[in-house]
Amino acid sequence: MTPVLSVENLSVAYRVPGGTLQAVRDVTLSVRRGEVLGIMGESGCGKSTLAAAMINLLPPGAVISQGAVRLNGTDMLTLPPAAQRALRGRSVAMVFQDPMTAFNPVLTIGRQLADFTGAQEPRLVDMLARVGIPDAARCLDRFPHELSGGMRQRVAIAAALLMQPEVLIADEPTTALDVTMEAQIIHLLRDLRTTFDGAIVIVTHHLGVIAELCDRVAVMYAGEVVEDGPVDAIFHDPQHPYTRALLACDPAVVDPASGRLPTIAGRLPDLTALPPGCAFLPRCTVALAACRTAPPQLRPAEGRSVLCHRGAA
Ligand SMILES: Nc1ncnc2c1ncn2[C@@H]1O[C@H](COP(=O)(O)OP(=O)(O)OP(=O)(O)O)[C@@H](O)[C@H]1O
Ligand code: SF4
Ligand SMILES: [Mg+2]
Repeated sequence: MTPVLSVENLSVAYRVPGGTLQAVRDVTLSVRRGEVLGIMGESGCGKSTLAAAMINLLPPGAVISQGAVRLNGTDMLTLPPAAQRALRGRSVAMVFQDPMTAFNPVLTIGRQLADFTGAQEPRLVDMLARVGIPDAARCLDRFPHELSGGMRQRVAIAAALLMQPEVLIADEPTTALDVTMEAQIIHLLRDLRTTFDGAIVIVTHHLGVIAELCDRVAVMYAGEVVEDGPVDAIFHDPQHPYTRALLACDPAVVDPASGRLPTIAGRLPDLTALPPGCAFLPRCTVALAACRTAPPQLRPAEGRSVLCHRGAA
């Protein structure tokens, strides 16, 4: 089965004062229909850039320096911009961290949803009810600021689903919410799994979101996917030293209320001046001599892959 969405050897750089910042480096990933792919990793490791590059919707200043971005097998990067937009419009919808920014503050929810999706009122009410908005008909007459953050995020998810996308991409969809709202949105996304038959890509810092929602997870570090595979396999038997460090952290380090990614000692390397060897070297406790001089190559092992000189154990 052809993946709905895939990227092959994708690299993305930002032009920054005094150089080039390598935000995504040689990433190969795919997601199939009915599958939920999680992307995790610490702040600044390239998750949002990768999510945006997966649909070639990068901010100004970003350049795709190599690779392919395929939607149902078609490489978007080879299409003229208008054809790309048409393909994307038919196939992909995106949900962002803070749904307030997605709404126009002076128009009602109903007006915006109708403009954005072209759907009639009964369908809007139906979809709002489906994402758990109480009194959905009245919600259409409200303005964005009259809704809670969790409600706005539900409306944003409803808007995305009304587009009937084949791929739903959510970048930190629960991060701006308080713990209760966050739990509700996670619950909603989990329910969606049974009714939405497209593919879902979720970027998150939240280990609980990965564990509860995702089939597969890609762990990013310094722009690279360092480990990729089924969630169960990776959570129970992480192979890359970075994944191990994240998951082996004393549970006390993980904030019990938020379940957020623990922090590990050290910091990301400067992405404008990467070392010749492994980018994780300064923080790695099991480095080999080769790690200093040569970048590790991806090693596939039983449906998962690991980017480390030590390979899969
Ligand atoms: N528009 C931009 N211009 C220049 N550099 C950028 C831009 N956007 C992101 N970067 C840089 O690219 C790298 C990756 O950023 P990105 O936002 O993709 O990371 P992230 O994993 O999503 O982080 P976070 O968890 O904080 O959202 C970072 O070093 C960041 O500073
Ligand atoms: S390649 Fe070497 S330095 Fe990098 S994570 Fe593996 S063992 Fe550690
Ligand atoms: Mg981000």
